[in-house]
Amino acid sequence: MIRFNLATTLSGLLFLMGASLSTATPSQDEAKQTIKAFANDLKTTLVTTMKSQGPVAAINVCNVSAPAIAQQHSNGAYVISRTALKIRNPQNQASSWQKEILKEFEQRLAEGEKIDSLDKVEERDDGWYYIKAIGTGKPCLTCHGNELNPAVKTKLTELYPNDQATGFKQGDLRGAFIVKYQH
Ligand code: HEC
Repeated sequence: MIRFNLATTLSGLLFLMGASLSTATPSQDEAKQTIKAFANDLKTTLVTTMKSQGPVAAINVCNVSAPAIAQQHSNGAYVISRTALKIRNPQNQASSWQKEILKEFEQRLAEGEKIDSLDKVEERDDGWYYIKAIGTGKPCLTCHGNELNPAVKTKLTELYPNDQATGFKQGDLRGAFIVKYQH
């Protein structure tokens, strides 16, 4: 009797463990919330640093803090990153299917869709992805616009000799956030 109970308990436990292992079911809502929290955190840190220490110091926010803040908002189940067609950091390079989605976002934007509604879910062999467009706002022009202050330009060129991420106008598609859930 005791053995029977033990076996039942054990198989029950194993069942529960199995269930919890396979419940990493991604939800689009969760992915959206994750991006929202990350984007808000990043923007607040960026704008605050620009005001208190100026744009050159704020470059470090994007350079150092963006990956760190992304890390903070990531967990075992998912990873957040940023990408674009025109990139500043070569590590943010989009894969070929991601480039297709970014081009599709540009197309939809040109056809009049609102930038905030541009998103997509993509199921790949290595995971489930949620991709959301990032628009170019006014504060972004300091470092991604047409006329950069010489000190900003010097610092950017020093850190990113192959920088492609300038020349954006307000309202342009700057890039995208990606939340990746591992399979
Ligand atoms: C103070 C300068 C600065 C400002 C302001 C700024 N950025 Fe950036 N941005 C950078 C730097 C530096 C990087 C490279 C970060 C890295 O090394 O990953 C970057 C990278 C990015 C990337 C990742 C893709 C790439 O090009 O490597 C996106 C997307 C992006 N910025 C969007 C924005 C948006 C949207 C805003 C406005 C809310 C903004 N940035 C404002 C400096 C800035």
